[in-house]
Amino acid sequence: MSKVFERTLITSALPYANGPVHIGHLAGVYVPADIYARYLRLKGEEVLFIGGSDEHGVPIALKAKAEGVTPQEVVDRYHYIIKKSFEDFGITFDIYSRTSSEIHHQTASDFFRKLYDKGEFIEKTSEQYYDEEVKQFLADRYITGTCPHCGNEHAYGDQCEACGTSLSPLELINPKSAISGSVPVLKATKHWYLPLDKHEAWLKQWILEDHKEWKSNVYGQCKSWLDMGLQPRAVSRDLDWGVPVPVEGAEGKVLYVWFDAPVGYISNTIELCENQPDTFGDWQKWWKDETTKLVHFIGKDNIVFHCIVFPAMLKADGTYILPENVPANEFLNLEGDKISTSRNWAVWLHEYLEDFPGKQDVLRYVLTANAPETKDNDFTWKDFQARNNNELVAVLGNFINRAMVLTHKYFDGKIPARGALTGYDNEILAEIENQKSKIENFLEEFRFREALKEAMNLARIGNKYLAETEPWKVYKTDEERTATILNIALQITANLAIAFEPFLPLSSEKIKQLINNTQLKWADLGNINLLKAGHALNQPELLFEKIEDEVIEKQVQKLNDAKKANELKNHQAAPVKQTIDFEDFTKLDIRVGKVLECVKVPKADKLLQFKIDDGLGGRTILSGIAQHYQPEELVGKNICFIANFAPRKIKGIESQGMILSAENADGGLAIIQPQRETEPGSAVG
Ligand code: MF3
Ligand code: ZN
Repeated sequence: MSKVFERTLITSALPYANGPVHIGHLAGVYVPADIYARYLRLKGEEVLFIGGSDEHGVPIALKAKAEGVTPQEVVDRYHYIIKKSFEDFGITFDIYSRTSSEIHHQTASDFFRKLYDKGEFIEKTSEQYYDEEVKQFLADRYITGTCPHCGNEHAYGDQCEACGTSLSPLELINPKSAISGSVPVLKATKHWYLPLDKHEAWLKQWILEDHKEWKSNVYGQCKSWLDMGLQPRAVSRDLDWGVPVPVEGAEGKVLYVWFDAPVGYISNTIELCENQPDTFGDWQKWWKDETTKLVHFIGKDNIVFHCIVFPAMLKADGTYILPENVPANEFLNLEGDKISTSRNWAVWLHEYLEDFPGKQDVLRYVLTANAPETKDNDFTWKDFQARNNNELVAVLGNFINRAMVLTHKYFDGKIPARGALTGYDNEILAEIENQKSKIENFLEEFRFREALKEAMNLARIGNKYLAETEPWKVYKTDEERTATILNIALQITANLAIAFEPFLPLSSEKIKQLINNTQLKWADLGNINLLKAGHALNQPELLFEKIEDEVIEKQVQKLNDAKKANELKNHQAAPVKQTIDFEDFTKLDIRVGKVLECVKVPKADKLLQFKIDDGLGGRTILSGIAQHYQPEELVGKNICFIANFAPRKIKGIESQGMILSAENADGGLAIIQPQRETEPGSAVG
């Protein structure tokens, strides 16, 4: 079932405006979307490429509260930083707008209202946590407490970040309001739900049968959701930041951020088309005409929303097209660790440009060459350096520079005429002609890494050709043959300018300047007669430069500093636990003991076994500090322990108490010792 499309609508996930954007954003979503948009435009197709900031949701409201500013101030701050980063990296959105705009509020509100009027929602009243102090229902993220799975005391109502488990607020032990710190109460509240269960049958057919060509990571995630069975999903929230629910009796409620944000793609299209009707036409042709191909570029955490929830919303409306493809990427890690805004473990785009001005293409290259297309991938500064030095400099830059310099040296910078071709010349020319379809096929299949590799292979072919034909030697005896060789090398150079344009737009522009031809079109790719004999080149200039070890070491150092600063910050910032009475405290029987013996527990790398003089005949205690102390250094020392801690059996040994230690920011443990010699059994209090 292959449809005929007349135009392509490309959307890229709207990033949350609660922080700047980093390399993970670029690699996962925006560079691939931009490559695709540029490629289609170069082919002369009708394309619309939509971007914008996602400005609603609880984390933004929470951040504003923590800073004592309004949510609008938070999103204003980041929206422009994000927008600028995308411009700097050459992401060619036709519009980059925002969901706090009036037009978006109107569009999202109307979208909801139409579904409401059509009876596409169900209404349900349920009990949710309410903060009586601030008189507000608490979104899942606004509730913290102890994780029932791992004991982390700072778990959120939707997730425990320590063990990664998804939670519901009702599962938290000792729930607390993140706003006032008070203990929340349960209270009834009404919400609107999209009954995804009613959409399950057509979604199954549409994805699992009609779109088997989707990337396997996307298809697989959809299949597992569909196999589990879909449930109704709430599309409203009790919150004061977002698009108000346009229904009577819904005061204090807004649309769920994942309901309004994807509608942002539509609002941004409307905004653009209304501002430039002559260029983009009527917005409805982009969203309601079956000949439009809709493609969503997103990261893997957005798959369910773009493949299941948003399509169900569009279908419920009944007048919209559905996405033709959702080429979601996996995640990019950084030096082996998950990228994290809150932990400042990231390479921020605006900071990259401060440190590497003008080197946008180097990052675009590395992120595409190593894109997390089928699995999570790792960005390392070493790899960044290696790809710059060994590929951009040594292959692409070097080839073009040699072709340019030799032509200036032997032919006064003018394209020399081609003479008789050898069999080898013909082989090379055929290889060049072949590259076009290879690159195109990969681009059409959203396999941008492979497409880029084939573009680079063009330069490799060029380097191989020069190495085999050695024009610098041939020139001494045969000027005509040298002319032919350099003519071919320059035709390859012109092809490189075209092939790299979707990937490395700035460098492609520079190559066109060097060869003094800015008229090259995508359709010219594979053509081996692009530059006519006698055409004058401009002066050679290096396209890329080597990146030295010191530069890379500085970046690694910067990351390590950020990690240390973050550990320290977290350490100082650990919030104080719930207040207790003296009574509670006296339940703990803490005493001083003297270490009589201390040995490693066999087959347990963390455990030490202590024999403690407790003034009562002695006891055995196990403690998980073997990685921090040698047993010998503890013998004879005074320690503190909890004497009434319920005995536990570990590795077959009964542990009768708990030895107290302090934990450093870096996870190092230090045993607590009384400051003066103290009798074993003395009470601590
Ligand atoms: N802000 C979301 C995220 O960063 C993505 C929203 S995509 C949209 O994960 F479709 F909702 F716009
Ligand atoms: Zn947990």
